[in-house]
Amino acid sequence: MSTPVRGKRLTVPAIQARKGGTPLVCLTAYTTPMARALDPHVDILLVGDSLGMVLYGFDSTLPVTLDMMINHGAAVVRGSETACVLVDLPFGSYQESPEQAFRSAARVMAETGASGVKLEGGEEMAATIRFLIQRGIPVCGHVGLMPQAVHVAGGFRAAGRSEEEAAHVAADARAVAEAGAFAIVLEGTLEPVAAAISTDLPVPTIGIGASPSCDGQILVSEDVLGLFSDFTPRFVRRYAELGGMIGDAAAAYASDVQARRFPGPEHCFRPARAKASN
Ligand code: KIV
Repeated sequence: MSTPVRGKRLTVPAIQARKGGTPLVCLTAYTTPMARALDPHVDILLVGDSLGMVLYGFDSTLPVTLDMMINHGAAVVRGSETACVLVDLPFGSYQESPEQAFRSAARVMAETGASGVKLEGGEEMAATIRFLIQRGIPVCGHVGLMPQAVHVAGGFRAAGRSEEEAAHVAADARAVAEAGAFAIVLEGTLEPVAAAISTDLPVPTIGIGASPSCDGQILVSEDVLGLFSDFTPRFVRRYAELGGMIGDAAAAYASDVQARRFPGPEHCFRPARAKASN
């Protein structure tokens, strides 16, 4: 018997079943209005800890807290109907032990209504991933370039450049899949390495800078929309320049206010006309 599902949200098993099928379309979202705009077009909305850099202006994802992720996760669930919503576990909220990871992930699931969590790490996180899944928490893995390990890697460097590194990323991906992850984000990974991993794994790979051979693609929405330009990785394709449009709109508003063209009569509240008495 299949599990009864409330509503029409794409489920974790449905995502997993897309292995080798139509590529999964995934974008990040951090807020209700962005979730509303993206929801009809994507399979997965990821509340990524990239919000630390994109929304809060930090220079890495390390300062992001579990409470921040929960607040943004709940906002994205409220703004979406059909996408599968996943929430990143932030740095320091899961690496210590499987029990710590469970407490953090359980809060995310209970307080946001998301369908699963994503966490960074390979072989060293396999036991934690298994622990979460055995306790009812779907986990999406994340290997290759792992932004939470930026200081160990010495920067945001593509993964799999040497034979040794390639074997390491492949072993990470395999360990995470064997632990039960329903999908794996492959970030900043050389094309042949990503292709070999995607062929090898029984679960979907979701690429970001990891070539079209992955089973799906994800990008940070603000990169796609031209709303974040502190830096633009080479794997981003911009589909709009909304940052420029916002600047133009703000300039037009400023000029209208200064010239008293705004507000107009249609924006003003007026006293009701007194009834004629006879
Ligand atoms: O934090 C994030 O937005 C991510 C994606 C870039 C995959 O992990």
